[in-house]
Amino acid sequence: MLAEASGRYRAVGVDDADPAAVSVAVVWQHEPGSLQRYPNLSLVHSLGHGVEQILDDPGLPDVQVARLVDPGIPAAIARWTTRIVLSHTQREEEYREHQAAGRWRPMRRRYPESVRVGVLGLGEVGRAVAGMARGVMHPVAGWRATDEPVPGVHVLTGRDGLRDLFETSSVVINTLPSTPDTRHLVDRELLAALPDGAWFVNVGRGDVVSESVLLAALDDGLPALAHLDVFEEEPLPADSELWSHPNVRITPHVSGPTSTRTALPPLVENIHRVLDGLEPNHVVDRARGY
Ligand code: GLV
Repeated sequence: MLAEASGRYRAVGVDDADPAAVSVAVVWQHEPGSLQRYPNLSLVHSLGHGVEQILDDPGLPDVQVARLVDPGIPAAIARWTTRIVLSHTQREEEYREHQAAGRWRPMRRRYPESVRVGVLGLGEVGRAVAGMARGVMHPVAGWRATDEPVPGVHVLTGRDGLRDLFETSSVVINTLPSTPDTRHLVDRELLAALPDGAWFVNVGRGDVVSESVLLAALDDGLPALAHLDVFEEEPLPADSELWSHPNVRITPHVSGPTSTRTALPPLVENIHRVLDGLEPNHVVDRARGY
């Protein structure tokens, strides 16, 4: 919490703040309803790129909500997904199996030029993921709501474009946030359209695909492997079948951590904008959910 005081602002603990002095709340997974305590709030600022947990608060005051656009997050996620794409082309999973079986079997390497990467969402994260995949020589298709071009990326839109992306990509990477339009967007039909051996990677939000749909699709062999960093429910419940599925690799929402070094400058700039009576950057369209 940052409250205006005799200086420009001062940082205070949630419990010590004079509620009337608080104009900006910087939150991540706050307690629903808790922001109602601040009658003079003018901005709720997310500490991450995602804002669904803020917008889902039925007691959210009627003030602007801003996303954190921290350049460190897209870069970290792009490094993460590039590692996965490279492990696909370099057949790491197969070599691991061969090692377990004590088998020496050199395999033909996949050429990156023939492995298309499909990126769902071409916002800050999607563009970084696409750019790094291009940097390691992969052709990239990207899906977004509008056909606004992205250099070096074959941009697809609409349901036909989505189907095209799934049919032609060997690694599909979801970077989409959770909004009313993206919830369960990736359905059984799209997953079944993937080429043989294709992988699905989720570093956006878990509810873009329902867990039961994904499990059924995995049981049918497509995707051949899912790398999941985000889930419909987090932490992933202990009884989720995803934990033990042989074709699932799980990490606990760590692909794009917010780091103080890169997050503070855009955050402080936005707070100054509010204190100066300016429009903050990256204001969320509440109806769109992002
Ligand atoms: C992390 O998930 C974020 O929203 O930044």
